[in-house]
Amino acid sequence: MSRLESMRRRLTAQIDGINWAADLIAPLQGDVLEMGLGNGRTYDHLRQEIPNRRIWVIDRVLKPHPSCIPPEQDFLLGEAEDMLKQLAGDGRRMALAHYDFGYGVKEKDVEEGGRLSPLIAALMVPGGLVLSQQPLVGLEQIKGPDTVDPERYLFYRAG
Ligand SMILES: C[S@@+](CC[C@H](N)C(=O)[O-])C[C@H]1O[C@@H](n2cnc3c(N)ncnc32)[C@H](O)[C@@H]1O
Repeated sequence: MSRLESMRRRLTAQIDGINWAADLIAPLQGDVLEMGLGNGRTYDHLRQEIPNRRIWVIDRVLKPHPSCIPPEQDFLLGEAEDMLKQLAGDGRRMALAHYDFGYGVKEKDVEEGGRLSPLIAALMVPGGLVLSQQPLVGLEQIKGPDTVDPERYLFYRAG
């Protein structure tokens, strides 16, 4: 598979996964959490598909496309661990979380996902969904939409 095809597969998985999750969380209370603003592509899709919920965004830098800058009060600038603890301490709870941190180095990314998992799980409402490219632990892995390769994109439900 070429890198271009791999990129298409990732983008399709993100779009289909977010759309699928947006429908499923409709009956749940709670906010949305974007972990990794980056260029702002998935944030932009989340706010398009889930316009009526608060979307918290964590990143250690603020460098998105100018059209994708989150409202100041919803953006948490800093390291993931500190920002996740801050949200929990403030009593925030999420119906949906999208995990898109990563260095692009598989071992480091898997280690970080494992380390942050309990902090993410603690923020979720019962039945809340977590979408991730990295394996997470301590959450129930569930099947996502049929269009998404289950090896490419992972879906979890909070207990
Ligand atoms: C792959 S990019 C996110 C792409 C973005 N979701 C999009 O669709 O454009 C990963 C982002 O996560 C941030 N990041 C990675 N690890 C982090 C950490 N431990 N704490 C805070 N931000 C982190 C990076 O600064 C980077 O902007």
